[in-house]
Amino acid sequence: MNPLLKRLQPYPFERLRQLHADVTPNPAYRPISLGIGEPKHATPELIKAALSASLAGLASYPATAGEPKLRQAMAGWMQRRYGLALDPATQILPVNGSREALFALAQTIIDPTQAGATVVSPNPFYQIYEGAALLAGADTWFAPSDPARNFAVDWAAVPQEVWAKTQLLFVCSPGNPTGAVMGLDEWRLLFELSDRYGFVIASDECYSEIYFREEPPLGSLQAAAQLGRHDFKNIIALTSLSKRSNVPGLRSGFVAGDAALIKPFLLYRTYHGSAMSPIVQAASIAAWDDEAHVVANRAMYREKFAKVTPLLAAVMNVALPDAGFYLWAQVPACFAGDDAAFSRELLALYNVVVLPGSYLAREARGQNPGAGRIRMALVAETAECVEAAERIVSFIQSRTHPT
Ligand SMILES: Cc1ncc(COP(=O)(O)O)c(C=O)c1O
Repeated sequence: MNPLLKRLQPYPFERLRQLHADVTPNPAYRPISLGIGEPKHATPELIKAALSASLAGLASYPATAGEPKLRQAMAGWMQRRYGLALDPATQILPVNGSREALFALAQTIIDPTQAGATVVSPNPFYQIYEGAALLAGADTWFAPSDPARNFAVDWAAVPQEVWAKTQLLFVCSPGNPTGAVMGLDEWRLLFELSDRYGFVIASDECYSEIYFREEPPLGSLQAAAQLGRHDFKNIIALTSLSKRSNVPGLRSGFVAGDAALIKPFLLYRTYHGSAMSPIVQAASIAAWDDEAHVVANRAMYREKFAKVTPLLAAVMNVALPDAGFYLWAQVPACFAGDDAAFSRELLALYNVVVLPGSYLAREARGQNPGAGRIRMALVAETAECVEAAERIVSFIQSRTHPT
């Protein structure tokens, strides 16, 4: 067996299952889960129609690079969204969702023969970053998000000697679970560090279309272009239809950026066998070409967050994030920072599932930056999310003002 498999940690949802295994949820309430970040809004008809109209595609093997018209549709979206003129032949590659691409990219980039090969990741973080780094033979270094700065990652906490060994940096903007969006100054800093130490930046941008501020989130390649880095040296942006278009089951996204990295990535993917199905390609073209459903989807999230956030903010430390579909809340003081106990008791008394924040982060240098927090995915219908919030309010009030 590959010995590196032993380095993998249990996935947060497995830990959540174990945490809740002996809890009997209050049967007086119907179950509501804010646990898993799976989009639940309806899949647009135009995507389903494109899928069923292209079934003839089942009869042929797809190319790993995808059809030129697919890469053209992706480039067209990058142009409209970020004002970038990318070459679809060399700067864009379809992937089967950003999850597999994050993983595969690490396998392509990391050179485990270099002593101390390191991957830097935010903390808390999307769990694939860690597994991708470990299975590529690298070590991880976790940079904490800072609640005092709207959960921006404290890159200054990373010592110079760690940067010197870093081969790959994962960033997530908008962040999961924090919702924080990186600004131009933060990008400038990371580009400078990448220039100095030679590491690749993998920028996970799968929540880019769900935002609550006027300004759409800045993309990594957009930031690079604004700073005059038109070759996107050492930058790969990862984008996905899962959240933008409510198709997590389609498995469709793309990577874009440095052509010198896309080329070996295509080579890796050819051997790995990660070509996108022709019918998924057809549905993806329809999705990238349409923006109306994305605007409507965003409006639904905005309405939902506008209703739910103030309810919860009255009883706990939580605020509207910049973007994404999570609330990243601090458990009230009476739980003494025990996010797992909060999750268990909430399920037992009110039949609502929330994810303990400590499960989404690692303890590093004596601190787990997710501890004392919970993540709530507001993916269900507004009425259901409001009901969950009302139950959480009752739960917290019953603990802070017991009758
Ligand atoms: C931060 C982040 N990145 C990537 C993904 C993977 O999404 P997909 O593979 O559906 O594109 C997710 C999914 O939840 C996520 O939260």
